[in-house]
Amino acid sequence: MKTLVLYYSLSSRTKTVAEAIYAVAEKEYDAELSELKDFTGDQLDNYDLVFVGAPCHDSDIAKPIKQLLENIPEKPQFKLACFVTHSCSPPEKSDYMAGLFETWVGKCTKTLDEVTSSKGINYVGYFRCMGAPSPAIENFIHTSIITDEKEFQEYVEDARKHPDELDIKNAQEFAENIFKNFSL
Ligand SMILES: Cc1cc2nc3c(=O)[nH]c(=O)nc-3n(C[C@H](O)[C@H](O)[C@H](O)COP(=O)(O)O)c2cc1C
Repeated sequence: MKTLVLYYSLSSRTKTVAEAIYAVAEKEYDAELSELKDFTGDQLDNYDLVFVGAPCHDSDIAKPIKQLLENIPEKPQFKLACFVTHSCSPPEKSDYMAGLFETWVGKCTKTLDEVTSSKGINYVGYFRCMGAPSPAIENFIHTSIITDEKEFQEYVEDARKHPDELDIKNAQEFAENIFKNFSL
């Protein structure tokens, strides 16, 4: 099985997750890891399974990856799995965070569901985890979203650690499950 782990990453958070998934893939499969800038869309058909990773930008999948997905021809041969990193805390954390998450990350799954169903893509899984915000994004969150100082300090202390060891473990379990199901 030929596998590709393809990612776009501005500050290495998504790259770290991509490398973790690739580490699982390369153990047993013919796997490649590639940054989006080194890749052209029509090469995707050379693979049986493609993992595509993106940061969340403006509550949606970052544009370069969104465009790549939108340019995939209908009913491709490969199966697609996606992963996203975002700086918003996960919705499981509290009702307050669940509301913020819907606003700030909510479009990612909607976009993926829309693109994959409209194109008849065999979409086999989705993984997400936090990725530390860059200083500019941290500042935006502080001044516009979590303005309460205590809440912001709690948020930022945690956010800066991601992706952490547990995120990497979860990403690798996600990949292992995809491979397990692929061979069923
Ligand atoms: C321009 C820009 C917009 C962003 N918008 C969001 C957003 O809407 N929601 C969110 O949770 N994180 C947002 N982030 C934070 C990133 O998704 C997060 O830090 C991610 O892990 C960065 O991944 P990267 O280092 O691979 O680029 C944004 C970051 C940038 C640079």
